[in-house]
Amino acid sequence: MSLSGRVALVTGASQGIGRACALRLAKEGAAVAVAARNQEKLNELVSEITAAGGKAAAFPLDVSDEEQIKSAVKAAIAQFGKIDILVNNAGITRDQLVMRMKRADWDAVLQTNLTSAYLSIQQVIGSMLKQRWGRIINITSVFGQMGQAGQANYAASKAGLIGLTMAIAREVGSRNITCNAIAPGFIETAMTAVLSDEFKQNALKQIPLGRVGTPEDVASAVGFLASDEASYITGHVLNVNGGMLMG
Ligand code: NAI
Repeated sequence: MSLSGRVALVTGASQGIGRACALRLAKEGAAVAVAARNQEKLNELVSEITAAGGKAAAFPLDVSDEEQIKSAVKAAIAQFGKIDILVNNAGITRDQLVMRMKRADWDAVLQTNLTSAYLSIQQVIGSMLKQRWGRIINITSVFGQMGQAGQANYAASKAGLIGLTMAIAREVGSRNITCNAIAPGFIETAMTAVLSDEFKQNALKQIPLGRVGTPEDVASAVGFLASDEASYITGHVLNVNGGMLMG
């Protein structure tokens, strides 16, 4: 197991991609602090990981609240002693054409998807700097790379995560801390379940591999970037999109 002795914190771990990432990191031997708002779902995930012989604990938090991020990270460090791997995965959509987009929906998406990543990095970076080892993985999106009508807030937040990733990679590289982003394309989760069949069919036509992705497809990339095998990769945006966007 490549991550034995490591401690990971995954935000938005209650379902979808975050849940798959937590399971994957635990399978690789990391102790996993799982964070999201739904305590019940987090408890189920912790039970699943521990039943399989792994280590995990739940830290309920709303990532749009700075104080909750601070206290959850503090509690996770108190329990596990450190954080080696941070996966900033929690995210929401509030789609609307820009003409009709409410300021509240702009703010909510930026706060949840982008500001939370900056705040979480700020809380874990001390632990990583101290031990001169760290992995920060930000889950962005193909729409942060190419834009999407009706998603000005979401695309801006995800493009912002790419800038954040590169800035942090430059800032902490000398301390053996890498910071990368993963840009999923169309992944089958609750977030995409609400899309119309027409949208899904059109999206499929844009995917050379001819299928939608699974949360596990993204989790595999997270497992790799968290490992020692990826120690010379930083500031990178790794596409997990079936070829939907290349280059
Ligand atoms: P999901 O809706 O199934 O999961 C989102 C997770 O974030 C949930 O665990 C939810 O509880 C958590 N979350 C949302 N707001 C939160 C808050 N304020 N505080 C704490 N936790 C919060 O969606 P999915 O697809 O698993 O999304 C995970 C990430 O992947 C998101 O950042 C999303 O933008 C990104 N992504 C998803 C794609 C897809 O096709 N499903 C494509 C590209 C990126």
